[in-house]
Amino acid sequence: MRLRGRKNNFRETLELQQDLVVLEPQQLKGRWREFFGNDNPIHIECGMGKGQFISRMSGNNPHINYIGMDIYDELLIRGSEKARALWKNEKGVNEVPNLALARGNVEFLDKMFDPGELERIYLNFSDPWPKSKHGKRRLTHPRFLMKYKQALNEIGEIHFKTDSLSLFEFSLNSFSAIEYQMRNISLDLHRNGIRDDLVLTEYETKFVGQGMPIYRLEAVIGEKIQQEHRRLVAEDLEEQFRRGTMKDPESEDE
Ligand SMILES: C[S@@+](CC[C@H](N)C(=O)[O-])C[C@H]1O[C@@H](n2cnc3c(N)ncnc32)[C@H](O)[C@@H]1O
Repeated sequence: MRLRGRKNNFRETLELQQDLVVLEPQQLKGRWREFFGNDNPIHIECGMGKGQFISRMSGNNPHINYIGMDIYDELLIRGSEKARALWKNEKGVNEVPNLALARGNVEFLDKMFDPGELERIYLNFSDPWPKSKHGKRRLTHPRFLMKYKQALNEIGEIHFKTDSLSLFEFSLNSFSAIEYQMRNISLDLHRNGIRDDLVLTEYETKFVGQGMPIYRLEAVIGEKIQQEHRRLVAEDLEEQFRRGTMKDPESEDE
């Protein structure tokens, strides 16, 4: 996603916004809590585009620190304009204390975050790279999933949304190859109307407007959340047996 027709002074504009914009995220490796000034959990959107999702999330959830990451300076500019316009404090000053917009390539995530420094990763409408020779560039390729696992903490999760059926199929295979547990899988997220409990991204707004289905899943990665997930699944199965809604495979009844 590139923006056209803007003056070429992006870098200067970004350098003036050190409260919000991080141009060298590798310098904050292991020190993101210092940037935010608290110990709140950190959630990141890898490939934030123009930043609608991440700026709304940061306003809705002041006790979570958010990072929107993208490769392009132009998108960081758009993201910063959006975030400051959305969130003004009581004095009318545009400040967003729980948001950082980082210029970075997800390829180098391990250079920007210590192991366990992140709690959640959002992958929203990642580029599908449809040609199989480009498969390794897809942000749900197993080589990226390994990087995410390293950066996530014991309750770490990945939330993934896309309009691309082929990317979703590829991703299901990727997640299961690494033996990540998946839950809340949907093949048409907004089939019963727009989900008002979820924040939409720019791409999502456009695709939903065109009547396209949105595919979504959550992957549970951290040890602690995996245990919790297994416990809930086991409890749910037990409840189904108890109510007689599922046949017990151990039973000898025909
Ligand atoms: C299709 S756009 C989606 C934007 C936004 N998440 C949304 O849903 O509206 C994908 C974005 O991912 C960014 N991107 C692609 N590969 C990336 C990488 N390796 N590291 C960081 N950003 C990346 C692109 O620059 C682009 O802005």
